[in-house]
Amino acid sequence: MNKPVVYSGIQPTGIITIGNYIGAITNWLKLSDEYDCIYGIADLHALTVRQVPAEYRQRAMSFFAQYLACGLDPRKNVLYFQSHVHEHAELSWILNCFTYIGEMQRMTQFKDKSQKHQDNINIGLLDYPVLMAADILLYQTSLVPVGADQKQHLEITRDIAIRFNNLYSPTFTVPEAYIPKQGARVFSLQDPTAKMSKSDPDPNAAVSIIEDPDSIMRKFRRAVTDSDSVVRYDPELKPGVSNLMTIMSEMGGMSIEEIEKNYSDKGYAAFKSACAEAVIERLRPVRERYASLTTDKEYLAGIAKEGAVRASAIARRTMSKVKRKVGLVELK
Ligand code: TYM
Repeated sequence: MNKPVVYSGIQPTGIITIGNYIGAITNWLKLSDEYDCIYGIADLHALTVRQVPAEYRQRAMSFFAQYLACGLDPRKNVLYFQSHVHEHAELSWILNCFTYIGEMQRMTQFKDKSQKHQDNINIGLLDYPVLMAADILLYQTSLVPVGADQKQHLEITRDIAIRFNNLYSPTFTVPEAYIPKQGARVFSLQDPTAKMSKSDPDPNAAVSIIEDPDSIMRKFRRAVTDSDSVVRYDPELKPGVSNLMTIMSEMGGMSIEEIEKNYSDKGYAAFKSACAEAVIERLRPVRERYASLTTDKEYLAGIAKEGAVRASAIARRTMSKVKRKVGLVELK
């Protein structure tokens, strides 16, 4: 690794949505040339909520195939599963000892998730951001491309890194969040004031990146808008239409102004269909590549293994530095 490092990941829960694609994956693709990029399947993170083991294993593998289907080249990027590199859990423990309970209790995601899963407010849920900090800091990451909802986790990662560096000596690169100006928060198609979530129980709220075209069209036609019929960008007064415009712009390549000019007087039905078309076309190669990748389980397993080996080599270096700094006895 000789370029600055980019690190990011997705939890294998629900489906990979167009929100994940627009907010994160498109930037992962853009950064592939200029940086050494490492993209993980955050499968330890998703254990903080109950998973059915057989389904979970299958979903994690499917997400991995979707990374590749999106166009992430395994020769250019390190693609791997977090659970295959034990240093994540190891560094996470050490960083726990440099993180305060109060800091974790203030995290918005912890508050939300403990509301949603009141019967299972486990330590992992509270500790989630520390594991995420470990993911990022293990690889001496400079840049973390994520959606707006991860901003707070990036801030605490920086705080932990700075705290550790100040206590000992520079050990971790202090990472920056890379959050896009447009598309950092894609909203639900059914409730344009709520984030599009990959595990929304309402199937009409989110669109998967490998969804079939008819279903995409149906979901966009049903998308909640307003009673007016003018296509105009106004997130305050017209959140539904503005969200669709953002999606269309990101997926189809037209600017918001161009969309406004072309569709302002065409009515919502035509606009929604055009928006769905842009999504369908953009995702066509992803869907096709995914279909052929899933038939080649051995190829996927090989890529995962190679990714784990490459990731481990970097993680090991950071881990041995950290252990030395905190005063653990080295095994000669
Ligand atoms: P996760 O799995 O919830 O989401 C994956 C990525 O998608 C972004 N995202 C969105 N962007 C725009 N609009 C939306 N509606 C939307 N929903 C999600 C997220 O911001 C994220 O970038 N904790 C992380 C996974 C993780 C991670 C990491 C990320 C684990 N370790 C290290 C970066 C670095 C998460 O739960 O993302």
